[in-house]
Amino acid sequence: MTTADAHTPERLQAGFDATIAADQRIEPRDWMPDAYRRTLIRQIAQHAHSEIIGMQPEGNWLLRAPSLRRRAILLAKVQDEAGHGMYLYAAAETLGVDREELTEKLIDAKQKYSSIFNYPTLSWADIGVIGWLVDGAAIANQVPLCRCSYGPYARAMIRICKEESFHQRQGYESLLAMMNGTDAQREMVQESTNRWWWPSLMMFGPADGDSPNTHRSMAWGIKRHTNDELRQRFVDMSVPQAAALGVTLPDPDLRWNDERQAHDFGEPDWSEFRAVVSGAGPANRQRLEHRRRAHEDGAWVREAARAYADKRSARTEAGA
Ligand SMILES: [Fe+2]
Ligand SMILES: [Fe+2]
Repeated sequence: MTTADAHTPERLQAGFDATIAADQRIEPRDWMPDAYRRTLIRQIAQHAHSEIIGMQPEGNWLLRAPSLRRRAILLAKVQDEAGHGMYLYAAAETLGVDREELTEKLIDAKQKYSSIFNYPTLSWADIGVIGWLVDGAAIANQVPLCRCSYGPYARAMIRICKEESFHQRQGYESLLAMMNGTDAQREMVQESTNRWWWPSLMMFGPADGDSPNTHRSMAWGIKRHTNDELRQRFVDMSVPQAAALGVTLPDPDLRWNDERQAHDFGEPDWSEFRAVVSGAGPANRQRLEHRRRAHEDGAWVREAARAYADKRSARTEAGA
């Protein structure tokens, strides 16, 4: 076989298909179909944006945390989310896009982030419930991504998932403390659970019948389970946790199904989901405005970093 043969479109596609079939990783230097690259860029960018925008609802409580211990934990968590955003932007850059360009798309509302972050944090209990349910749902979504077919994304997810599990536990522990406190604290936890339960279920995306790209993403080894499979797993995981906490999940249709060996549960309000995804959620405007302002305020930092890098490379060249 000559080198030219190895690079015919058919050969390249066959090589890619064989890698996927053998459950091996595609690396940045490897040939990949354009649609695979575009899908990954969109998904990783959306994921990175979610980590960064997700800092806002929690950052809102940093100065109002009820104790130094809770503040230190929350601060560490919010910093972790910034780190997750950075790993993910770096993973996206291996596909040939630029971080700057992705940030522009986010603040111009041309790329999305998880709809969950368009809900406001109204009470301190929301911080615990976000850790428990939102980070919990994120873990259910993200653990299978550790085996994603694209190497840099899969490797970023391994570290991210370790930190997410700390996020979930700190949330649960903080709720447990409140449930062992006063009636007012218990009511606060219940009220917060009532508001976050359904939006958490929506984090898995639309029902399988309304998710046209799922099949292709699964064939490419990007996705390992369907939205409904992951949602079911999350519900089954959350029910005993809610019982141990002593909170009621706000779904009258939620019950154990002996035949299926899984819980039956109600349908999320998909019209609300579509509204929030398309920009009409309670905090969409505020989130994007805040992100845009932070980007503008940070312009001098980027300029200074660029000038410093230029100066260093000029000095290295002069020395060489
Ligand atoms: Fe995260
Ligand atoms: Fe997290």
